[in-house]
Amino acid sequence: MRTNILLDAKAGRFAIGAFNVNTYDEMIAIADEAEKRQLPVIMMASMSSAKFFGIPTFAKLCRVLDEAYSIPVISHLDHCTRPELLLDCVEAGFDSVMYDGSHGLYEDNVQVTRRLADVCHKKGVFIEAELGVIAGEEGPVKSKFSEFTNPDYVADFVKRTTLDSLAVSIGNAHGFYKGKPEIQFDLLAEIRANIPDTALVLHGGTGIPGEDIRRSIRMGITKVNVGTEIRAAYMRGVKDYVAVHPQDGDVREYVVSLREAIGKSAAKYMDCFDCRGDQK
Ligand code: G3H
Ligand code: ZN
Repeated sequence: MRTNILLDAKAGRFAIGAFNVNTYDEMIAIADEAEKRQLPVIMMASMSSAKFFGIPTFAKLCRVLDEAYSIPVISHLDHCTRPELLLDCVEAGFDSVMYDGSHGLYEDNVQVTRRLADVCHKKGVFIEAELGVIAGEEGPVKSKFSEFTNPDYVADFVKRTTLDSLAVSIGNAHGFYKGKPEIQFDLLAEIRANIPDTALVLHGGTGIPGEDIRRSIRMGITKVNVGTEIRAAYMRGVKDYVAVHPQDGDVREYVVSLREAIGKSAAKYMDCFDCRGDQK
């Protein structure tokens, strides 16, 4: 795995888009948009999506796309709460994994993440972990409330777990936001100051306004996760095509229109990821 890719992004003031996918068509639509912008891209499988694809199949599909496109295409396991499944993904050749121990006790989160990080690093696999709780639902991880990342703990957590990137809870949430998201930029600044060399991850990308995404990237976010909007675009694409072609659909024409719908949604986010030309 190109483990320095998020740190390269940090140094270069851009972020890497990480998109939750369940189908090959989503992967193609997203990779096409990333290629147009010459941005690396991360394909994320949730625990259930990894099983749906087949764990080795997902790893291999990403590898094939990585070879086929000129940009890096990285495979990632998202929000994994089961260490055995995470280790299966590492074994199968995933480039990157997330262990999510955020709902348990701090000390357990430290211990389990550290144990998994040791295995990942021996295999050259990148590991993300989370501190604080992100509200909403993402696969098996559900919470009605958010618990912001405590900036006083981040340095200890990073040091003891040896993680490669940290997912933060700073007002972001999974799913569609009810109202405007209130990203806590002061908290992000505090976290950043306490762990200046660590790649930070913003989950719950769906619905965060472009200007807030850009601001958080300028403040050190290097990976932005987007899932809900991609799934919604997929379903919208299906409905729109079938509405126009209730009887006379063509498979390839359908797939192309579906990919366009997904690509458009992914593009909206990707257009915010490159902040190299921003003033500050
Ligand atoms: O881990 C996945 C992301 O945080 C996706 O969040 O579905 O709200 O875009 P989202
Ligand atoms: Zn998430």
